[in-house]
Amino acid sequence: MHIDALDPTDAAARAVWHDVMERSVRADRPHALVTTPAAFEVTATSPSTHYDRTWLRATVDGTVVGVAELELPLSENTDVAWVEVQVLPSHRRQGVGRALWEALIERSRAAGRTRIGGEVTVDVDVAGAAHDFAVAMGAVEKHREDHLLADLPVRATPVDPAYEVVSWRGRCPDEHRGAYLAMRNQMNADVPVGELELEAAVVDEERLAASEERLMRAYDVRVAAARRRADGTFGGYSLLFVPHGTDYGWQDDTLVMPEHRGHRLGAALKSANYADLPPEVTSVHTWTAPDNAAMHRTNTAMGFRVVERMYEMEAAVRG
Ligand SMILES: CC(C)(COP(=O)(O)OP(=O)(O)OC[C@H]1O[C@@H](n2cnc3c(N)ncnc32)[C@H](O)[C@@H]1OP(=O)(O)O)[C@@H](O)C(=O)NCCC(=O)NCCS
Repeated sequence: MHIDALDPTDAAARAVWHDVMERSVRADRPHALVTTPAAFEVTATSPSTHYDRTWLRATVDGTVVGVAELELPLSENTDVAWVEVQVLPSHRRQGVGRALWEALIERSRAAGRTRIGGEVTVDVDVAGAAHDFAVAMGAVEKHREDHLLADLPVRATPVDPAYEVVSWRGRCPDEHRGAYLAMRNQMNADVPVGELELEAAVVDEERLAASEERLMRAYDVRVAAARRRADGTFGGYSLLFVPHGTDYGWQDDTLVMPEHRGHRLGAALKSANYADLPPEVTSVHTWTAPDNAAMHRTNTAMGFRVVERMYEMEAAVRG
């Protein structure tokens, strides 16, 4: 077995890496939300200034049988390395995953990282190796989220009449950017992360603009925000991505600012976004911590059901 890094300028190699990743994930996760080839192309070919990414390959007899991703945050959490490991079912339990893990550890150590984090997801009905593998590699659980799925249409939640919904697609209009940035930063500070000790990312105008520009290349980005009619203040937002060419949406942030809570704005903003989707989009994925009772109840009341359990695991990188 040979482990090396993908040359991100090699289009054919990028396609192989993505294909092996997707087949490995789908083998035991029928509901997995997998990065589309188009989204992978954007990430692999236009480096971010906030993350240094490397894609590893495990090759046996000239065939790629396992892949891994290493993401080194550069702006915050610079002690952490984020990783993912996937091995084709035909080559599991032969040490390929462990070899990729060791290569990830070595690179993380060389980059001065002291801990490795990763998301490990298992289907609620299909047994998967992810959790056992992570534990065998020395990782411990730090946070848990449920992956939920809803078929559209979901039951609509009306908007509190004291508010109006302001929606946009792609880039946030100039007149709302200040309010949107304040809400994005509140979200990053408020989102529950369990025992993960992480610094919240701080998004400024430049970082928002760069992120919007990258995301729009792979996703139809849709935002619904609530504005209080009485004074024009924004009370919350919900962010939804629809990967280009797919039939599903991916629910990202939903935040209601502290002084605007208690008006069902979260559910109203989500359902405003879903109601606006083109008819070919027939389902939506979301993630919620099971102990985030408010959001979990909002989601299940709308028609979301739990399909996978996601564990955020962490392991120490020894010097
Ligand atoms: C998890 C995964 C990467 C493991 O790859 P692998 O090449 O089979 O792993 P290895 O053969 O190197 O196994 C290393 C150790 O992990 C543990 N392990 C791996 N698969 C296991 C399973 N099905 N049940 C129990 N333990 C398991 C064992 O301790 C194993 O050591 P051993 O074989 O000496 O007992 C692979 O099953 C996979 O790609 N699954 C789908 C994607 C995924 O869940 N990735 C993990 C998220 S980061």
